[in-house]
Amino acid sequence: MRPKVFVSQPVPQPAIDLLREHCEVIAREEEGPLSPPGLRAAIADVDGLLCLLTDRIDAEVLAAAPRLKIVANMAVGYNNIDVAAATARRVAVTNTPGVLTETTADLAFALILATMRRLGEAERFLRAGKWKHWSATLLLGSDVYGKTLGIVGMGAIGKAVARRARGFDMPLLYHNRKPDRAAEAELGARYVSLDELLSQADIVTLHTPYTPETHHLIGAPELKRMKPSAFLINTARGAVVDEAALAEALHAGTIAGAGLDVFEDEPRIHPRLLDAPNTVLLPHIGSASIETRTAMATTAARNILAALFGERPPNLVNPAIDA
Ligand code: GLV
Repeated sequence: MRPKVFVSQPVPQPAIDLLREHCEVIAREEEGPLSPPGLRAAIADVDGLLCLLTDRIDAEVLAAAPRLKIVANMAVGYNNIDVAAATARRVAVTNTPGVLTETTADLAFALILATMRRLGEAERFLRAGKWKHWSATLLLGSDVYGKTLGIVGMGAIGKAVARRARGFDMPLLYHNRKPDRAAEAELGARYVSLDELLSQADIVTLHTPYTPETHHLIGAPELKRMKPSAFLINTARGAVVDEAALAEALHAGTIAGAGLDVFEDEPRIHPRLLDAPNTVLLPHIGSASIETRTAMATTAARNILAALFGERPPNLVNPAIDA
């Protein structure tokens, strides 16, 4: 009998085709996550689950799927999955690292440029028919070239952002759980405390996973440490930032602006962020290129095939299931 796989939301077709070569696949066609009871019913007799970051896979969901061997998240972040509960049930959890690094770094850099040079506002101005003449004082932003970039989280995406910043001659500061001497040698980045980074950087860009330790890592006290001329960029996870405190800082002008691709309660946007000045808001599109989303989906599919056919999934995040 072919193993059964449930794909919780639409994903690029090559991943479905790959799974169908070896498995019976039930691919949901509606966008958006199922309700928890709907998800529990859908996975009651499946061996594998391909899910998205908007699917909450908690202990109760896992308990509803006694045959489940693998949860393959089509994302690098996997804070939507209760990994400890999965490990306790010997269910493999996998993510999609690597394939989205450059695409997400591109988006982080795009947000830096868009926010500092006021691109969203400028486009809205033009489309509203407000452009009457060239003006020496119209829509003045901040230079990006040569500014000091502070990278919080020097993992693969943080390093890819640092490589782009070198082309803009930006002095690089970084903060990480521990110093990364190889990255320092390659990128010329200087390891500093979070406090020092916040007080010296012209741009603070976040690239940490979301964990209990990084919850509200940037809150009111941290925002106060930033320069009034500094910008905050978040392409990691919304709740790494205390959104209410950020909205407050933007309205009060204690920082100069923010570029956000992620939010605490997606797709709900804090109302005070919607009307905050110098703020660019994107609907979580960090990895959204055709090539990368296809690579993420096929990576998730390959992880499922490995787990269901007796191999170690290449991107296993809970190796303790083998113990
Ligand atoms: C996207 O946010 C991801 O974690 O891949």
